[in-house]
Amino acid sequence: MNALTNETASFVAWRARSQQAVEQALSSWVLPGAPAGLGDAMRYAVLDGGKRLRPLLVLATSEALAGDAVAAMRAACSVELIHAYSLVHDDLPCMDNDVLRRGKPTVHVKFGEAQALLAGDALQALAFELLVPEDGSVAPVMAVPLCRLLALSAGADGMAGGQAVDLASVGQTLDLPALEAMHRRKTGALLQASVMMGAATSETSPQVATQLQRFGACLGLAFQVVDDILDVTADSAQLGKTAGKDAASDKPTFVSLMGLESAQQYADRALEEAHDALSQSGLVHCDVLHSLADWVGRRDC
Ligand code: IPE
Ligand code: IPE
Ligand code: MG
Ligand code: MG
Ligand code: MG
Repeated sequence: MNALTNETASFVAWRARSQQAVEQALSSWVLPGAPAGLGDAMRYAVLDGGKRLRPLLVLATSEALAGDAVAAMRAACSVELIHAYSLVHDDLPCMDNDVLRRGKPTVHVKFGEAQALLAGDALQALAFELLVPEDGSVAPVMAVPLCRLLALSAGADGMAGGQAVDLASVGQTLDLPALEAMHRRKTGALLQASVMMGAATSETSPQVATQLQRFGACLGLAFQVVDDILDVTADSAQLGKTAGKDAASDKPTFVSLMGLESAQQYADRALEEAHDALSQSGLVHCDVLHSLADWVGRRDC
């Protein structure tokens, strides 16, 4: 499949429409009223920025399966809240020590380290609150698996565990299996969970679920490999975050392990497998998911 010709006008329109709907929903759920300026820091961290890839994956998967749209929007925003919290903490001086994120000063630069830590904490809690609304609009039979998927992907065997490995690996050379394992946890897990949470808004056959798992895993791994590549090939203005940080911090990445060209080939192969998984799923209405996979490979930020 040709990645460049695959970006149809209908996909571009769907993406813009969905990004706008996610923005509105996030703005209505992340309220400014939290005490002592915490609400302002939370809104600053989440609103008005980012590609919203994870929510788009939730929504596209749910739509492909004719899932529950109310649950899907809550799930989409819950994943984005976990992602935003992970970025706030990732940028802290005790982690990557970054000053630029989504084209703006990072949360700790703007609000101080303690407020950034707390904004992350509160965003994480809010993510789970969104999945168990007081008005019962997400039935417990759906809310429970959604919470479980999100918790597993964010925790010790997912994002947080991967971030621990990332920090413990500074200055080291990781071999391919170790690097894959780190990337699958720190980034891949949440992207895979986005797909599976979209699936959890519908009744999904085991065969479809298996292929969607594979789709999410391949897409998630490719996504972080491309992030490693962009850190080298793009500039800070384009990325909205400081370029060249991985080499400057002596982080093992796919680029440091195998060079730019092989890293790109690795990402392309992972994305081909993602497309294959979708084809094997037998899902009929999955054009948007194919387009999202192409977008991951082709993005320039
Ligand atoms: C950046 O994620 C952090 C990683 C997990 C590599 P994104 O590239 O999705 O960041 P935003 O959400 O678009 O800002
Ligand atoms: C971060 O990976 C992954 C997270 C869980 C936030 P990076 O440290 O490479 O992300 P960027 O490059 O700062 O966005
Ligand atoms: Mg990091
Ligand atoms: Mg970082
Ligand atoms: Mg990076």
